[in-house]
Amino acid sequence: MISFVWAEDKNHTIGVDGHLPWTLPADMKRFKETTMNHPIVMGRKTFESFPNGPLPKRLNIVISRNKDYQVPESVVLITDKADLKKYVQEDAEVMVIGGSGIFNLFKDDVDRLYLTRINHEFKGDTKMIDLDYKKFKLVEKKEGHTDKDNLYPYTFETWDKL
Ligand SMILES: NC(=O)c1ccc[n+]([C@@H]2O[C@H](COP(=O)([O-])OP(=O)(O)OC[C@H]3O[C@@H](n4cnc5c(N)ncnc54)[C@H](OP(=O)(O)O)[C@@H]3O)[C@@H](O)[C@H]2O)c1
Repeated sequence: MISFVWAEDKNHTIGVDGHLPWTLPADMKRFKETTMNHPIVMGRKTFESFPNGPLPKRLNIVISRNKDYQVPESVVLITDKADLKKYVQEDAEVMVIGGSGIFNLFKDDVDRLYLTRINHEFKGDTKMIDLDYKKFKLVEKKEGHTDKDNLYPYTFETWDKL
């Protein structure tokens, strides 16, 4: 199955200047817990946004139109989403982690949404794509706790395809 994992602000902003617009460790923790031990699929720019290279304990699959794009040995490069099945098991939960072009590419395939809504407005240049939430059911909603490290109000939501 295909799941989307992302965080967006009040205006559906997800990125700025090649990185996240916010610092929210609680969301990083949820992202880690959600994606751990699952294959993660991302666009080339999102891959390049990781400060420490590929994310550990997850098969990192990068999508680029450039078949010569160089990735570390542990990372899989694909140029066509049809190639995904060569690298993931049929029963795997494949975590598509963005950015917007990649969410768009898998829009018709997605079964589950792991969304963090951040109740704040940030400057940004990348937005989440429009999703038809009528086709999904909210199965979990958890208010986040703000503290000195997590300054913005946020909610974790999980939606399953009807
Ligand atoms: N808030 C969040 O949850 C979240 C999640 C992910 C990313 N982000 C942020 O979003 C920004 C990056 O996202 P982005 O949308 O600009 O870029 P992206 O989706 O990460 O990467 C775009 C690249 O993916 C490749 N690509 C896209 N569509 C393709 C297709 N149909 N076939 C083959 N390759 C394709 C292309 O690579 P080539 O140019 O190499 O061909 C394209 O330039 C950053 O600021 C990042 O921090 C935020």
